[in-house]
Amino acid sequence: MKTTRHVLVLTAGPQPEWMPDLESQFWSVTSSLPTHELRRTLRASDLACVVIDFSHGFDVSARMALERLLALPHVGAVGLLGPDQLADPVVRTLAVDHCFDVLSVPFSPVQLTLSIASAFDMLKSRMRELDPDGNELQRTGLKGGHQVHVEGSMVGSCEAMISLFRSIRKVARTDAPVFISGESGTGKELTAQAIHERSERRGRPFVAINCGAIPPHLLQSELFGYERGAFTGANQRKIGRVEQAMGGTLFLDEIGDLPFESQASLLRFLQEKTIERIGGHQPIDVDVRIVAATHVDMPEAIASGRFREDLFHRLCVLHLDEPPLRVRGMDIELLARRALDRHRSDSQRRVRGFAPDAITALYCYGWPGNVRELINRVRRAIVMSEHPFITADDLDLGEYTQSRTVSLAEAREDADREIIERALLRNHGSLSKAAGDLRISRVTLSRLLRTRGIDVMAFRSSRNSG
Ligand SMILES: Nc1ncnc2c1ncn2[C@@H]1O[C@H](COP(=O)(O)OP(=O)(O)OP(=O)(O)O)[C@@H](O)[C@H]1O
Ligand SMILES: [Mg+2]
Repeated sequence: MKTTRHVLVLTAGPQPEWMPDLESQFWSVTSSLPTHELRRTLRASDLACVVIDFSHGFDVSARMALERLLALPHVGAVGLLGPDQLADPVVRTLAVDHCFDVLSVPFSPVQLTLSIASAFDMLKSRMRELDPDGNELQRTGLKGGHQVHVEGSMVGSCEAMISLFRSIRKVARTDAPVFISGESGTGKELTAQAIHERSERRGRPFVAINCGAIPPHLLQSELFGYERGAFTGANQRKIGRVEQAMGGTLFLDEIGDLPFESQASLLRFLQEKTIERIGGHQPIDVDVRIVAATHVDMPEAIASGRFREDLFHRLCVLHLDEPPLRVRGMDIELLARRALDRHRSDSQRRVRGFAPDAITALYCYGWPGNVRELINRVRRAIVMSEHPFITADDLDLGEYTQSRTVSLAEAREDADREIIERALLRNHGSLSKAAGDLRISRVTLSRLLRTRGIDVMAFRSSRNSG
């Protein structure tokens, strides 16, 4: 594949006078701030050297866009620093972790030209290293100092996941009930298992019940069991799920879907910590740790009378929230590569990695089905792909590559939404704190949430314990 070399000059200041010089080096030069959509303008096969002029500063959104841009494997960077700028921790991290070379102002045009040339050399050798055949690019590791953390079967490297892993370890030390909220496919069950594995109850049973799947008339017998002869057809004693979990952890999955009629008996068991098998007359003491999970908006379910508030408070002593995949940054790529490694053998042909357009699409798509959807798409692509490298089309994400044109208004809206969501996530849905971070009034923030259809409640539940 033929590659073009781009030099992107990113500055918040006026157009620098050394730009024409760069163009005479036969590089295509673009000058722009790093907008949310900038990476879509780069053809994924093109090598790009981003010259980042830190000396005029960048706002938070530009910095975040920059980090994402520099996470792309075919993009390298040269940083230009003003006096004392290395003292700024954010600049220092960007410069040290992401730039191939750093020049201090003032520098000579020759120095800059040499730095850019050597950045392209390094990009070329990185590509060769990653794909010795020189066809397309595959990247195996994460760059930029991102460390991969593992918690049970979960992996993550972003701040939100590291914070979740920390919370898992904290709540595992106690016996209090844990409530896990999060969108579908974000890893609620894995989190429940990780809590069990970290707790003193490891080695004892972990019993999961899908509360939404048990019809109310079977709930009692499923949860608490029955004695022989308790009813017609009860030919022998059955030990219920709660008793099976004795000494271990009882995972009440999809608790938000528990039929209302069944909620009272669950509440009674939680209050009394005893059960009675149907047809039995002896209360049995049970020692189980309760972990519950749901994708349902519980405040809404309580407000609309579908879920008992008293039961919710019993279940939700400690609260963990799974971050949606779309806010996990480079974890998206990390999880995709892991899924590929695990399922590579599903295909007869050798699938070697992801094509650059697939990587771009992974980051541009919104992942409503979260990690589960990501794994499914990768598995399907492994089977369907006709190339050694999975393309965006193989992932059925062809429209999320750089070829999709994006209007400035769309790009701004996307960027606004992301910054607002991050502020809400950071502040657990507190409007006044998020507004403070964003340096806008609470009223303006409320209006933005309304016009962009952002549901603040989703962030309120993100108050991870600890
Ligand atoms: N951080 C992670 N690292 C690796 N795999 C993950 C991670 N999070 C989730 N998965 C995988 O994603 C899939 C969905 O995870 P899980 O079943 O725990 O999610 P869930 O939130 O319970 O989903 P649902 O709401 O659909 O029940 C599983 O295949 C799981 O192994
Ligand atoms: Mg689940």
